[in-house]
Amino acid sequence: MGEHAAIILAAGAGTRLKSKKPKVAHEILGKPLVRWVTDAAKEAGIERIVTVVGHGRDQVVPLVETDTAIAVQEEQRGTAHAVLCALDNQSLTGFDGTIVILSGDCPLVRPETIRAMVDAREAAGAAAVVLTMRLADPFGYGRIIRETVDASDGTPAAAAIARIVEQKDATTEEAAVCECNAGFYCFDARLLADALAQVGTDNAQGEFYLTDVIALLRAAGHATIALGSDDATECLGVNSRRQLAEASAIMQARINGRLMDAGVTMIAPELVWCGPDVKVARDVTLHPHVTLMGTVEIGEDTTVLPLTTLVDTRIGEGCTIGPNTRLTDTRIGNDCTVDETIAYEATLDDGATSGPRAYLRPGAHLCEGAKAGTHVEIKKSTIGKGSKVPHLSYIGDTVMGEGVNIGAGSITCNYDGTNKHATTIGDRTFIGSDTMMVAPVNIADDVVVGAGSVITKDVPADALAVARAREKIYDGWVSAHREAHQ
Ligand code: UD1
Ligand code: CA
Repeated sequence: MGEHAAIILAAGAGTRLKSKKPKVAHEILGKPLVRWVTDAAKEAGIERIVTVVGHGRDQVVPLVETDTAIAVQEEQRGTAHAVLCALDNQSLTGFDGTIVILSGDCPLVRPETIRAMVDAREAAGAAAVVLTMRLADPFGYGRIIRETVDASDGTPAAAAIARIVEQKDATTEEAAVCECNAGFYCFDARLLADALAQVGTDNAQGEFYLTDVIALLRAAGHATIALGSDDATECLGVNSRRQLAEASAIMQARINGRLMDAGVTMIAPELVWCGPDVKVARDVTLHPHVTLMGTVEIGEDTTVLPLTTLVDTRIGEGCTIGPNTRLTDTRIGNDCTVDETIAYEATLDDGATSGPRAYLRPGAHLCEGAKAGTHVEIKKSTIGKGSKVPHLSYIGDTVMGEGVNIGAGSITCNYDGTNKHATTIGDRTFIGSDTMMVAPVNIADDVVVGAGSVITKDVPADALAVARAREKIYDGWVSAHREAHQ
């Protein structure tokens, strides 16, 4: 098999999105449109990728420059011109293998489809393969004009395409054709370059149309064939905010469908949003209104969920996540319960629980069986094995041992207005309710702190620390006070 390259067209403005941001930088499930396309090409095994950028390229280049070459199309003169710009890129100099052309605004393209186009071209020795789809309402798309007979020997060739005609150039008869150009192609690189050199702008939009190369290749006696798409949704182009939402919903259904197939329960899959790099183990339950973004892992030995193909599932134990939970770049072990929680860059070991209404910020680490309860915020802190922070607390910059209990309303005062300071709390220590731990402070093992204390000095092991005003009792004060005011 020859070498493969992909060109991703992403220079267009996307005016219909009515946005300051270029179209391909808009996101579905936390990932920019153009990244979905580059990742699909990579997953299909394409070795070289060139992204054609133009409009808003300052915002597009950072999204793709780490793993694709960049070709700049200064002025958007049409899709053929965009492809020429890519062919000029040094990474394609002298390239004579197979070239796949994709659109940066068609994020639903699957690697299987890219492979199928490549395979179809190489199997047939064709100059071009065009992915086509049949639509009830083809308006706006280029129409596929089939050949009735094969030009070479007079026999009909089922897959042969004579030409593609754009909506604005179509006659009434042509416009009635419902087979459309999906905008994904696969070409013989050298034949493509030869044909592109002949494309002109004699059309309704005065643009260089990539679609014109089909008729040019046919005229030169080369085979140009159609590959029918078995899933028209993957050809959806994002040109408006409505289509952005539509594409998000399709991708969400695709990802959630695969997770469910892998053994994940979703009470209402339409209310669960998982990014493409999320891994969820078997027997995890995701309740409604759960958003998992970035690299979230739930359950040990989690199934890797690739963009489009499912690898086999390995065992992970049953976590319950949600409802109303948003986890970003968070790792969750087995048998955890995570209820109404927002977590960023947090880690929960096996059997840990959080929520309802917990906020776990970067560096929060709940060790095995630890608990972050209701209205609890934890930042950059380790909550040791079996330790509990059950109600209304803020714990920051703290290392807590095992079997600790933090009474309701207790907080670490970790910030003096300028710097952050650390707190340590030893094993089995009991912090009474409403304790302020003024950092830096060390509270050793087996300590008891009386409720309402403000702890500013280190507490040695095995000690009771009480730091609060003493309670005074004035016998008979209430009635005496009332009499005096009558
Ligand atoms: C194109 C096809 C049409 C097909 C449709 C599928 C052509 C002439 N027509 O039409 O047959 O049915 O896609 O969605 O190709 N772009 C550039 N530089 C340019 C022009 C476009 O990078 O100078 C990029 C756009 O950003 C976009 C892609 O190429 O990502 C397609 O261009 P667009 O203008 O959207 O073409 P369509 O009119 O949709
Ligand atoms: Ca388009």
